[in-house]
Amino acid sequence: MQSLIQGFSKLSRDEKIKVLVEQQQLAPEIAASFQSFLHPKQQHLFNDISENIISNFYLPFSLAPNFLINETLYMVPMVIEESSVVAAASKAAGFWAKNGGFQTRVINTIKNGQLFFNWSGNINALNNHNKEIEELIYKTTATITSKMRQRGGGITGIEFKAVPNMANTCQALVKFQTADSMGANFINTCLETIGPELMVYINQHPQLKQEQEATVIMAILSNYTPECLVECKVSCPIEQLQPYAGGYTTREFANRFKTAVDIAINDPYRAVTHNKGIFNGIDAVVLATGNDFRAIEAGAQAYAARNGRYASLTNIELTNEVFEYTLTVPLALGTVGGLTNNHPMTKAAMQILQQPSAEQLMQVAAAAGMANNFAAVASLVTTGIQKGHMKLHLSNILNTFGANEVEKNAAIKHFKDSVVSYSVVENFLKTIRQ
Ligand code: MEV
Repeated sequence: MQSLIQGFSKLSRDEKIKVLVEQQQLAPEIAASFQSFLHPKQQHLFNDISENIISNFYLPFSLAPNFLINETLYMVPMVIEESSVVAAASKAAGFWAKNGGFQTRVINTIKNGQLFFNWSGNINALNNHNKEIEELIYKTTATITSKMRQRGGGITGIEFKAVPNMANTCQALVKFQTADSMGANFINTCLETIGPELMVYINQHPQLKQEQEATVIMAILSNYTPECLVECKVSCPIEQLQPYAGGYTTREFANRFKTAVDIAINDPYRAVTHNKGIFNGIDAVVLATGNDFRAIEAGAQAYAARNGRYASLTNIELTNEVFEYTLTVPLALGTVGGLTNNHPMTKAAMQILQQPSAEQLMQVAAAAGMANNFAAVASLVTTGIQKGHMKLHLSNILNTFGANEVEKNAAIKHFKDSVVSYSVVENFLKTIRQ
């Protein structure tokens, strides 16, 4: 067995790479590639983002133009590794821009924090003292919330709950508004300040104190944000759907589309993939703007299962004439704080989006999710997904097989009207190389 590495974090970058190359017996080219992906001028910015950094990891930064959202046109920055996502989003955005655009609205922006504590009393007794406890909380956190309150945020309420199936285990579910920040640090700081004060209050209160003292278990924000919710709607006369109808009539297309959405509402296996298509767009915007994609995914996936069964995040209504398609998704996004203003490319993304508020960014991300989902479902119920997807994936496949420019041009011409797969591209290259 290899020996454990002591003090790795204290080594310089070159020393870390040396240890890595020796331990894993890596080829020298790998060490050289770490060097070549360092930023020539601004590496110091990246060095401060994480730990044990030996290089940078590139992903494409793309633009999807023509997003008409509530009468405003956006160019949407997207960072994603999957070919065809940006193309699909751009095409759908262009289509909807000519058909009323994306109608979006933020339903609410409430975020939650949880303070768990051991206490053997009756939870109703705590809720009966809610007003007094709220006062205590506001007073205790007055200094740390003062800037946030100036920006229109702060703590907005508290509710006590027992943790199901666990004796003597309670939580204070604290509600927050965090203005344009995602708010994780703000929420956690507030909760950690509230905890000890609340325990003193409970332990000294004649009607609340128990034989066993109340003690804090832990305090942390919740990434489940079912009240930090945005809705995005597209709607048009069914006859306008012609560009997406494939070989079908627009009515047939609309019916097939509705069936696909209904399947995603009723079948969890399909719902996960359907929602993944939504997150192709949302995650790409979340990444481009330096937001926490794990938080967004965790919260929205839980929301998709809020009724006890995982289901589609979209809903569809078809009348005789009108196609109306709606996405409702919790997106606790921020446009200040965190990486949003520290990374040169997230700063650029914010400028491209005209320095949006958190609410505007929620709406842009939802529209991107809607665009990608609409495009995916439309392909699935007409041509199938592979035709378009593999065409856009062709250059990746060609790179995998080390194709040069001449071979690439020949392949693009050859596959213009035929189906792309790894094996047919490999065979094609073998033939022209002979
Ligand atoms: C692929 O990244 C996304 C899709 O699977 C989404 C869907 O099936 O709706 C095409």
